[in-house]
Amino acid sequence: MKLLVTGGAGFIGSNFVLYMLRQHPSYTIINLDALTYAGNLENLKSVENHPNYRFVKANITDQRAIQDIFRQGIDVVVNFAAESHVDRSILDPEIFVRTNVMGTQVLLDAAKAYGVQKFIQVSTDEVYGSLEETGLFTEETPLSPNSPYSASKAGGDMLVRAYHETFGLPVNITRCSNNYGPYQFPEKLIPLIIANALDDKSLPVYGDGQNIRDWLYVEDHCSAIDLVIHHGRNGEVYNIGGNNERTNLAIIKTILQELGKPENLITFVPDRPGHDRRYGIDPSKIMLELGWKPKYHFESGIKETINWYLQNRSWWENIRSGAYQDYYTRQYKE
Ligand code: NAD
Ligand code: DAU
Repeated sequence: MKLLVTGGAGFIGSNFVLYMLRQHPSYTIINLDALTYAGNLENLKSVENHPNYRFVKANITDQRAIQDIFRQGIDVVVNFAAESHVDRSILDPEIFVRTNVMGTQVLLDAAKAYGVQKFIQVSTDEVYGSLEETGLFTEETPLSPNSPYSASKAGGDMLVRAYHETFGLPVNITRCSNNYGPYQFPEKLIPLIIANALDDKSLPVYGDGQNIRDWLYVEDHCSAIDLVIHHGRNGEVYNIGGNNERTNLAIIKTILQELGKPENLITFVPDRPGHDRRYGIDPSKIMLELGWKPKYHFESGIKETINWYLQNRSWWENIRSGAYQDYYTRQYKE
């Protein structure tokens, strides 16, 4: 089987490439990535010479480059490529529409023209908007995105749905909750807090810190996508989550406790505009239909993650010393 993984140099994409080469060593994996600020080939050093792995630097909005790849014959597309950070989408929405909507359409057109067995759109629970104190997102929850990021992901999802309905493209959309684990870019909450705490820097908490996210270890997301590739019913949406809701403050306090750092590093900063209050996934469809079950408990997953950032200090220090500095200064006015 030949897989095209787009965005495979990012956080979840690189974990997915490593996971698939371990689980299915006979599959060929083409990792196509534009290497934006979030793409890092360091993540894939251990497989760069793997006989069934190949990297192609290309942008999913580049129609000619994408058609060239599909012309070589692709069985399955897993589209991770995206602008993924909500705060950046508030600072600069345009690139989100270009990559997440138009890039998805370029991939869909190529998949339609050359034919594929499966097109997986890796989407997010954020397309459903925000929950009150009770209830969970199901696959039937109406889309109600609140940030330019989630609106652009919802736009991509709608195109994927339309290519199934109109052209019969064999698609699935997966909508996962917040991931954490190795290789996550230190602009996202968990790696940002770990790295800042290790450097004894202040820990920015938006608003009252009581917003709730539903955290899943990245490898559990990868195993879910693997199942959807092989057994997902065409045209279906599958929500992915491990019933693990926590407030941001609780997450931060857990990290501080693990690292033995003081709580007075916590600094309340102005809230994120349009900040969704709560996410919570109902994963019963993928569990009952495809037999998926997460392997990691949060308590062990977060310890493994913290250890990874401790043992791979140069990985995030390199990032934090580069262009990321400009973004950090703009976002946190430091
Ligand atoms: P990331 O920002 O770490 O990685 C994105 C990757 O896409 C990078 O390697 C980047 O270089 C690449 N990319 C960006 N624009 C591109 C373009 N135009 N052409 C080709 N490559 C491009 O993101 P992530 O956190 O790994 O998320 C991956 C996917 O999973 C995204 O689609 C995101 O919406 C979705 N998702 C993320 C989470 C999460 O918690 N991180 C949860 C659910 C869904
Ligand atoms: O739910 C899935 C989504 O999770 C993915 O689709 C996105 O790609 C991914 O970035 C993530 O979005 P969030 O906005 O939930 O993640 P983030 O890590 O940016 O923020 C998590 C929570 O922590 C959120 O309530 C905002 C808060 N936060 C974040 C940062 C970066 C802070 O309080 N301070 C911060 O500095």
